[in-house]
Amino acid sequence: MYDIEKIRLDFPNLALKVNGKINTFLDTAASAQKPQEVIDKIVHTYIYDYANVHRGSYYFSEQATAEYEKARTIIKNFVNARQDNEIVFTRSATEAINLVASSWGLNNLKAGDEILLSEAEHHANIVPWQNVRDKTGCTLKFFKIHDDGSFDAESFYKALNPKVKIVGVTAMSNVLGTVFPVKEIVQAAHLAGALCLVDACQSIVHTKTDVQDINCDFLAFSGHKLYGPTGIGCLYAKYDLLEKMPPYQFGGDMVEDVTYERTLYSMPSSRFEAGTPAIVQAIGLGAAIEYVQKLGMDNIEAHEKELIQYANNRFSEIKNLKIVGTAEEKGGVFSFALGDIHPQDVAFILNKEGIAIRTGHHCAQPVVNRMGYTSLARASLGLYTNHEDIDRFVEALKKVQTFF
Ligand code: ALA
Repeated sequence: MYDIEKIRLDFPNLALKVNGKINTFLDTAASAQKPQEVIDKIVHTYIYDYANVHRGSYYFSEQATAEYEKARTIIKNFVNARQDNEIVFTRSATEAINLVASSWGLNNLKAGDEILLSEAEHHANIVPWQNVRDKTGCTLKFFKIHDDGSFDAESFYKALNPKVKIVGVTAMSNVLGTVFPVKEIVQAAHLAGALCLVDACQSIVHTKTDVQDINCDFLAFSGHKLYGPTGIGCLYAKYDLLEKMPPYQFGGDMVEDVTYERTLYSMPSSRFEAGTPAIVQAIGLGAAIEYVQKLGMDNIEAHEKELIQYANNRFSEIKNLKIVGTAEEKGGVFSFALGDIHPQDVAFILNKEGIAIRTGHHCAQPVVNRMGYTSLARASLGLYTNHEDIDRFVEALKKVQTFF
């Protein structure tokens, strides 16, 4: 059974007061709070298992290397990759996508080729591809979403043609919450002869991720949204693709042999991890994944689904509340406008009530504009969100309106 009150005790931040009020943290889509187990693992590692990895034939380096590589195996199992070396540690999901765009994109795309993205992408899955377009002369285009934020299959299939070499799609929009049918999109991309990259930053936190089932070629996600540390992300890629990709950054730890004249690079995933990696962050991410696995991804998903329903019911009480993104297939992200009150003013008043929400363009300016806004407020749920959080949020939104 999913004992939400017991689970909340695992997160020391949630017990803090904010402005003298109960901490109501509704910005998990931006970054999640951390369970004590992750914090403890980080502290433990720095004391007992720390040194540089892959470099020292002494106790602490061997310990650190074993823990770092164990984290890779935990991640491999978590996303059901075939082998450990399909998991590349990066600084962030952004860096993972940049790796694909720079290493695969710049070396494989040319004028006449097309990159196809959804209209709902985060900047991290738009800007690197704009750079590839500008440098290679290929075309960048977008398939549409409907006005409710849902996937527009007709637009997608119309845009797909043999010139498309890669499709990039978010598995769940950080603005609209829309869950995209990534398995169907990957299958269609492959039939058209294109590869497919999935941005799983939001989805991986809420639902099971199985890269073999999705059959995507690349999948990127970050650690800090998955209850792990900042400064760590992952790229999953099919090994036969990684094997053909040149390095994206150069330096130590990605080489087999170096002379003054030339370098022989190591095999993936090491080839893509130049320099001292984010050792403790990777180990911390491993601990975060073990934590969510202990709770059970299915249980987390069921808890959040019920909360979404509860939130939607309660939102209907608030006059002038417009939820932006109402696709049927939707995760726990609620971007909203409250009449014509500026989102910044909403967030300011909510903060006084101890409630954290995000405002602005959510690093996805094109889709916010596409929905007819320049700025939106956003509340988002996590595995520790409870009904009282929603209740306080709803009551606070009612209160906000009394000021205007
Ligand atoms: N991409 C993160 C968000 O949606 C930061 O807030």
